[in-house]
Amino acid sequence: MDRTLTLLGIESSCDDTAAAVVRASEAGTAEILSSEVLGQTALHADFGGVVPEIAARAHAERLDGVVEAALERAGVTLDDIDGIAVTAGPGLIGGGLSGVMLARGLAAAKGLTLVPVNHLAGHALPPRLTDGTAFPYLMLLVSGGHCQFLLVEDVDRFRRLGGTIDGAPGEAFDKTAKLLGLLQPGGPAVEAEAAGGDPARFRFPRPLLDREGCDMSFSGLKTALLRARDALVKAQGGITLQDRRDLCAGFQAAVAEVLAVKTERALAMCEVRPTALCVAGGVAANKAIRAMLETVSARAGVPFLAPPLRLCTDNAAMIAWAGIEQLRAGAPPSPDFTARPRWPLDETAPALLGSGRKGAKA
Ligand code: KG4
Ligand code: ZN
Repeated sequence: MDRTLTLLGIESSCDDTAAAVVRASEAGTAEILSSEVLGQTALHADFGGVVPEIAARAHAERLDGVVEAALERAGVTLDDIDGIAVTAGPGLIGGGLSGVMLARGLAAAKGLTLVPVNHLAGHALPPRLTDGTAFPYLMLLVSGGHCQFLLVEDVDRFRRLGGTIDGAPGEAFDKTAKLLGLLQPGGPAVEAEAAGGDPARFRFPRPLLDREGCDMSFSGLKTALLRARDALVKAQGGITLQDRRDLCAGFQAAVAEVLAVKTERALAMCEVRPTALCVAGGVAANKAIRAMLETVSARAGVPFLAPPLRLCTDNAAMIAWAGIEQLRAGAPPSPDFTARPRWPLDETAPALLGSGRKGAKA
């Protein structure tokens, strides 16, 4: 008989409080029975970034309710669950601890298996849930807090080929929006403006393109945009709507080109041909960036795969799925784990510098 595995996933390492129930059959098919995500954008809106103490308090207050909602929507109780997968890092420690404590309590009360999951592994594995993608595949994780290339070789084997040495692209999109008086989150707002702009009018820098490998940098781009805006204000007393569209188009073109060129290099760095180029994270929603990546993967003859956005941005279904994959792979129980602010997926890769809007990077 086909034995199913049903896991509750809990995620609270950034600024989304999330819980989900995922059921997988032995044959490999999986179903997301529920996926609840409670964001905190409004709580941090006045501060220009995520405030760790506010995030931690919100997670502590909301986790119970979000878990209850996920169980209810899935039509299950804790008695129907085989185990709990919980994000144990990397990320903001306050939220991580709340999630881990809750998971520990529930698991102890019900005698359930507990699986600590690395948040980045959570982001890296959904292509297997949605498309059964075989190892190894190349994952570009590009969000407000992360930007890195991971060669996903197995459930627990990731090679980081490169990543940002400072901020993440989503953070740069958000900063750009702020500088130009657009709404947060900045990505969609900047993309909408860019659609009516001329990407050639402002030529912004493409940092690190002259450097080998696939490390990236985005902080110089923010400064360049600030300078261009200030130069316009100085020359003409303000910026017109068309100026703003052109600035957005120029900025987006620079990010897209950097990601495309570095993706090409990352593909070339893979010793074994990857089965797919996958992308995850909020920035993966950007159509211009997606189009560039699709072109790169077509040129390399590698299929391009972008799981649905709800699985690309922070959610707990990806954590439950990673837990299922780890259990299936025979991960030994680790009852003594705790939340960790830093937890590199690839312990052999040199640490990345900088810490983004969402805390320390792995
Ligand atoms: O993955 P995500 O939901 O959260 C984390 O950062 O963990 O990503 C959010 C980021 C924000 O910085 C947002 O501005 C960016 O993704 N984003 C976009 C777009 N939609 C969201 N960036 C560029 N273009 C978009 N269409
Ligand atoms: Zn994330």
